[in-house]
Amino acid sequence: MNKIKKAVEILEKYNQSHIKVETEEIADQILNIDFEQLQELYDQATNQDVIKDIENIEPVKAINPMKLEKETLDEYIKLGENEVKSGKFAIAIMAGGQGSRLGHKGPKGTFEIELNSKTKSLFEIIVDKLKSAQKKYGIPINCYIMTSPENNSETIAFFEKMDYFGYPKQYIKFFKQGELPLLDKEGKLIIGENGLIKLASDGNGGIFYSMAKNGIIDNMKKKNIEWVFIGSVDNLLVKYVDTLLLGLAIKQHVKIATRTIIKNSPYEKVGVLCKKNGKVKVIEYTEIPKKMRFAVDENGEMIYGESHIMCNLYSIEAIEKASTKELKYHVAEKKVQYINKEGKLVTPEKENCYKFEKFIFDSFCLFDEIAILRGKREEDFAPIKNKEGADSPETAKKLYEEYLAKNV
Ligand code: UD1
Repeated sequence: MNKIKKAVEILEKYNQSHIKVETEEIADQILNIDFEQLQELYDQATNQDVIKDIENIEPVKAINPMKLEKETLDEYIKLGENEVKSGKFAIAIMAGGQGSRLGHKGPKGTFEIELNSKTKSLFEIIVDKLKSAQKKYGIPINCYIMTSPENNSETIAFFEKMDYFGYPKQYIKFFKQGELPLLDKEGKLIIGENGLIKLASDGNGGIFYSMAKNGIIDNMKKKNIEWVFIGSVDNLLVKYVDTLLLGLAIKQHVKIATRTIIKNSPYEKVGVLCKKNGKVKVIEYTEIPKKMRFAVDENGEMIYGESHIMCNLYSIEAIEKASTKELKYHVAEKKVQYINKEGKLVTPEKENCYKFEKFIFDSFCLFDEIAILRGKREEDFAPIKNKEGADSPETAKKLYEEYLAKNV
């Protein structure tokens, strides 16, 4: 049976016949969609039970390095440094985002910011950290960059144009994350401006599966890499070569470790850590129930204040395990432009679509214990998320310049 005919049949079966299969390209898209899964996701979206059960939830305990003896801290750092020097450590940058909240056109990592009178892209700021580590530890660190199908070629072209910011090119490897179709509120596929079914990235939790699918895990194993720090592209202060976190993970014999900070208010847009049925879990800011968000102890401190800042360290074993497990999809409502039946581009005024995303931290509960290290906002967290106001280039620049003034 030819592709087009097959695609039409599938659309009929799943009640999606409003899509016209006029090209082989669109037929290929349809043949690649898992409609059973999509149907389940739609049912889940229209039936959202945002963590109703907070019965078995309890706060987590983080390690505060300020409370550790100097010898213990030195021991952890030494352990971490030795691991880096032996080439067993790599980093992965999650750069699938487009920076749309920032009003930036192009991959988020290409967003530029002026720091101490020098203009740098977010990618260059991260590569600078790798260059300093190379100098310090005498070895280049392998760097894996997760892009999206939408921004992959632009990201690679950017690195080529910038000559990899002077870092040895063979140590930087790109791989693409996955995509899923968007669904409108009636559960129908939508068509984008290019005449094709509109797809969107499957969330940063898709990283593990994408690593396996693109041969990245095999590549890491060939290079004897045992630990990978997975970080975001948009936090100016992220310590990509976090030897303390690494040493702590090794010492505690855990497979995953995360660096946190304390939330600055119940409204800060960060996920918070807790334990559910004894295992560490993050509840995202979009899903946290009021009861947890505002819970305080007898001193008025937030009970669920330990926050996820995307500074996560994974052993290769944990990455491999996460790549074989189906992490849960979370649903977000988004405003998405589409082409209507009359062939006209529609710009909706309110949220018209469901987007399905996996979250990286849903991998935490694959293990009984993970290490939690409490960092400090002024040293660890200067995110650039919004054009202005909180978490904007202005606030991040201030935090970063203050940090440099104190630490260099
Ligand atoms: C994220 C975290 C949140 C944390 C906050 C800290 C998740 C799901 N949420 O929220 O818990 O408190 O950062 O700043 O991790 N990305 C991809 N592909 C995707 C989606 C995102 O690579 O499909 C990357 C982005 O490029 C970015 C990072 O993941 O580097 C964070 O994504 P973003 O959507 O900005 O997350 P937040 O909502 O800020």
